[in-house]
Amino acid sequence: MKSKYHLKDSSFYYANTDIPKNKFDIKDSQIIHDIEQELLIKSYEIFFDELEEDTLFDEEYFKSLHKRTFESLYEWAGLYRDFNMSKGESRFCQGAFIESSSKKIFEELKQDNYLKDFENRPKEEFAKKLAYYKCEINALHPFCELNGRITRMFFDMIVSFNGYKFIDYSSVTPKEYINCAIECVQYADESGFEKIILNGLNKI
Ligand SMILES: Nc1ncnc2c1ncn2[C@@H]1O[C@H](COP(=O)(O)OP(=O)(O)OP(=O)(O)O)[C@@H](O)[C@H]1O
Ligand SMILES: [Mg+2]
Repeated sequence: MKSKYHLKDSSFYYANTDIPKNKFDIKDSQIIHDIEQELLIKSYEIFFDELEEDTLFDEEYFKSLHKRTFESLYEWAGLYRDFNMSKGESRFCQGAFIESSSKKIFEELKQDNYLKDFENRPKEEFAKKLAYYKCEINALHPFCELNGRITRMFFDMIVSFNGYKFIDYSSVTPKEYINCAIECVQYADESGFEKIILNGLNKI
């Protein structure tokens, strides 16, 4: 499998839209949004059912979330980008360094035993760790699109493993959420996400 995706130039989206070219040639944003949502919901069920004692939340697992969720729709599912990318004033990891930066993050996560030991530890400690890695992955922003959803799913599987429900973001406005993401990328400040996660973490 190719590990990188080269195609984010003008040909990545359909002309004058923010809809990525897709296998069904769908150009209606509501339809594409609904399909993405449906694929994501189905994938949550599948990955939740697949959680086992020996599941490793490693890089391969992270990539497989993106690939298996969206490969029926997008050719670049599961592939890292190799071009530079920004949103607003935030510049994400440069394309050329994604592979190596990703390895570093997941090596650190391995040292933390993939956050698999938090069932009986203080929720505050867990939220701090989750926020740290969420910021790291947000700043990496490794995929062309769908980074937010796949990153949330990744941490939802980790918290499930530890006996928690999926993280509840319902009390956070989109603006508050993006501000936390901006603080992560531009100021390496994960305290906003830490509060959001702590507030959204509830035992099953
Ligand atoms: N200006 C910004 N600075 C830093 N990070 C940002 C900014 N805007 C968005 N983000 C981050 O990028 C994510 C969106 O990335 P992307 O569009 O690849 O994924 P998505 O699945 O469509 O996201 P979402 O469902 O969260 O909108 C957001 O969830 C947020 O974490
Ligand atoms: Mg998006």
